[in-house]
Amino acid sequence: MIDFKCDYTKYISAEELDERVASVRHFVARAQQDDFGGWVDLPINYDKDEFARIKDAAKQINEDSDYLVCIGIGGSYLGHRAVIEALGGERGRTKILYVGNSLSARGLERVVKAVADKDFSVNVISKSGTTTEPAVAFRTFKQLLTKKYGEEAAAKRIYATTDANKGALHDEAVAKGYATFVVPDNIGGRYSVLTAVGLLAIAAAGINIDALMDGAEEERTALISDGGKAAEYATLRNVMLEKGFDIEVLANFEPDFMYFNEWWKQLFGESEGKENKGIFPASVVYSTDLHSMGQYMHEGRRALFETFVEVKDDYTGVKVPEEAENLDGLKYLEGREVDDICKVANQATREAHADGGVPVMEIIIPAVDERSLGALIYFFEMACALSAFESGVNPFNQPGVEAYKTRMFELLGKPGFEK
Ligand code: PA5
Repeated sequence: MIDFKCDYTKYISAEELDERVASVRHFVARAQQDDFGGWVDLPINYDKDEFARIKDAAKQINEDSDYLVCIGIGGSYLGHRAVIEALGGERGRTKILYVGNSLSARGLERVVKAVADKDFSVNVISKSGTTTEPAVAFRTFKQLLTKKYGEEAAAKRIYATTDANKGALHDEAVAKGYATFVVPDNIGGRYSVLTAVGLLAIAAAGINIDALMDGAEEERTALISDGGKAAEYATLRNVMLEKGFDIEVLANFEPDFMYFNEWWKQLFGESEGKENKGIFPASVVYSTDLHSMGQYMHEGRRALFETFVEVKDDYTGVKVPEEAENLDGLKYLEGREVDDICKVANQATREAHADGGVPVMEIIIPAVDERSLGALIYFFEMACALSAFESGVNPFNQPGVEAYKTRMFELLGKPGFEK
């Protein structure tokens, strides 16, 4: 379902690459057997009862809420925002607002004001249940809900996604009777978008989560025996790193994919950036960024390789209008589909950057829809795990993030963390 292409011949021979890819393919089984490899089989063995409860909760939210305030950070935030925005935003009554993804007082206050005269519910998402950013935001919105609806009705508007058995958020949810959804033990934050972590917000936005899971399942079928094209992409990433290209720029031509880029950066950055290793993940949205970063891409320091996410199908019906005169010199494009012009811009960019010495890779998705996004998420998760294993690091831990959390607890004087 997801296609991958790369003209690698300047960097490695076909024979050498085949050998390397063959060894990377073995890491699929390692990912599947890992204590944090729950995402590998998730598309076929997710909890169907919980899935149905997610749909019921989304329906309830659509009935009673103008806004769903999603509280979470990192893996508990970026995945659902990526999917919702890539698909063009909310489709029904309920709009999604995001807090707890920073400690910006201004940002928090803005959302408080936005919901003041509206009906809203809260989806608080935290695997550990102790992360400071979402915990601060949750207190704020819990109090707003209680003031507005009273304690009992407020509790019915809180949906908590957290550990099944432990943590501050879990304990509070049990004590207060919030509806709860589970972050599976064997799936880390950045691999969790296809669990309740992402699915409740995505469903509340009116997006078809069955189709999303179907796409992921189809991609799992394509990759599960030997990593398929994800193994080729993973291997070539490391080949580029060894050739001195230590920055990967994910490029696409859809501004709606900006948060998908952010999700991808977390996935690869948090999985591979450890033990003083790792490709630095960066991103651009073209053609916008061709007029800013395009210069660097073409002629800057030759440390970058570029991975284009491309959409195969055509978005038709939006054409360059006709005009009697030709004052703007655009007559030669009259009647041409804008999407077609965009695809030409894409091809021109790839060719120009390759000529400028940037290794170029292409990841092709069939369409901008639920199935394709489900497949793309799975493709990147698999590629990331394989690539991290090949570079010799654990794709599933994040000691650096924990270090920041602990240090902040010390500085804030959290009981039990005094220095
Ligand atoms: O991917 C990860 O593990 C992190 O980005 C976490 O998702 C993030 O730190 C939030 O943690 P939690 O869900 O425990 O609040």
